[in-house]
Parts: sequence; C-alpha cells; structure tokens
Amino acid sequence: MSDIRSTESLRSLLAMLQWQVDLGVDETIAPAAQDWRIAWAAADTDRAGQMTADTDTVRTVSRRAPPVVAVVPDRPAATPLLAEPVAQVTPDLRAVDTLAALAESLRTFDGCTLKYSATNLVFADGNPNSGVMLIGEAPGEDEDRQGRPFVGPSGRLLDRMLTGIGLDRATVYITNILPWRPPGNRSPTQAEISACLPFLERHITLVAPRLIVSLGGTAAKTLLGRHEGVTRLRGRHYEYSLQGDARTVPVLVTFHPAYLLRSPARKRDAWLDMILLKRLLSERLP
Ligand code: URA
Repeated sequence: MSDIRSTESLRSLLAMLQWQVDLGVDETIAPAAQDWRIAWAAADTDRAGQMTADTDTVRTVSRRAPPVVAVVPDRPAATPLLAEPVAQVTPDLRAVDTLAALAESLRTFDGCTLKYSATNLVFADGNPNSGVMLIGEAPGEDEDRQGRPFVGPSGRLLDRMLTGIGLDRATVYITNILPWRPPGNRSPTQAEISACLPFLERHITLVAPRLIVSLGGTAAKTLLGRHEGVTRLRGRHYEYSLQGDARTVPVLVTFHPAYLLRSPARKRDAWLDMILLKRLLSERLP
C-alpha cells in the first residue's frame, strides 16, 4: 500500500515538475531549498496515523503545511527575494561617470529581483567608442551564463546581419533594456523595465552614441515611448533625447533577431533596415 502511495507521490511530483518546466521555470527562487519528498512522506505518515480517527481530522491534517526541511540558504537571509519586485526609489546616478562605475552600481542595486534569479549581470559588449549603440530586450540563457549580450542563436544572427554591412563587435556597442535574464526568457514586466531604466538612460548618456539601433519592440517602446509595433516603426528613424542634455540621437528600429529566427520571411525587411543603418552611418559617422 505504501509502495503504491509513494509511486503515486513520485508520479505527481514529476508531473508538477514537468508542468513547471513547460511554463519555463528553470530556477528555484525560494531562499531555502525544500525537500518535498521528505515533507510529503511526513504528511503521509501523519495522515495514516489520523486515519484511525474521524474523517474531519483527516481533512484538517491533509491541509497542514508540510515541514520545511534542510536549509542552507544560497543567499543571505536578508536578500529581498520575495519582496517587491522593483525599486520604490529612483536611483540617483548623476555622479556615476564611467561605464565601469555604472556596471558596479547595477551590481549593488537591489531594486529589481531579476538579479536574484539570474546567474550573471549582462552589462554590454563591443566598443563603447564606436558611435553605434544596439539595444536589445533582455539576456537569454546563453547570455546569462556568459555575462555577455547576444551570444546565443539570436546573437549569431545579429553578427551575420552586422557583417553584411561591414560591422562587427569592434565597430558597434551592444546592451539590453534589462541587464538580467527574466526566468524562462519570459517577457520583461513594465515594473522591471521601469526599475532598470535609469541605468539604461545613464548608460546611453555615458556612451553618447551617434546612432542607436533598437532591436525589437520592447526596446523601441521603452526608448521612444511609442506603442506601435516594430512593423509600423521600422524603415525610418526617430530622435532620442539624452538625459540632462539638449542633444538628440537618431534611433533606428528593426526586428529583434530572435523574432527573425521565428519569422524568416521578415529577413528581407531586416536587410533593408541594415542598408538604412549603413546609409545613416555614412551620413552621421563619416
Ligand atoms: N535577446 C536579447 O534581447 N538580448 C540578448 O542579449 C540576447 C537575446
């Protein structure tokens, strides 16, 4: 009887896990690991003991929270893992005047809990003096592992697109709207974007690019405050106002490479965008 019960428990545990994996869960975010096998076995034993009592008691026992087991937190207890997901206070970054200091200030920033599920901060790659700043959405799995933006499949496509117009990572600078990977590559929430936006704005001000390329809709909406999709926004450029500065920087909007991998029919339009980028570059960065 108990063999059958433990086989069923195991099956339902596996089904729960599979369900979470299907949803994209790939990290545990509780401060302490919980061994559900032990917890359930304890609850089972408890329930079996109560079976001899009346059925009301059995119902009560089955609702009782299983004991928490074992507990070597992998982060300090004070870490606000389950607290508000975003900062309530906008960080003042005016004194942050180098890219290294900006990366450091992100490392010590506690206002976005993505930081605690991510493996690495993904700050930027490429040449900050190139004059061209590419801005994507958020790191994926490969980027999170390596701590560099656009190093996975969409990064390889991006590299090929850049090569087509004579550019590479030495002649562009690449970052993302979010510096930490959202779990399971889910879309960033507006709260996460708002929490990290002051850092991106400071990033753009410090790099002072001559041209920005927005890769995908999230970057375009965030930078331009527009609500249209990329299909409507692409094909021309817009002006981005630098923080605390009268200057504006042209922003070209194109498809996100990950979208192009899913919708190859759009590659023709993306190629036209690359040609427009090359033309703007020859006008702006002669
Ligand atoms: N997608 C992004 O938007 N950024 C990356 O760095 C990788 C994939």
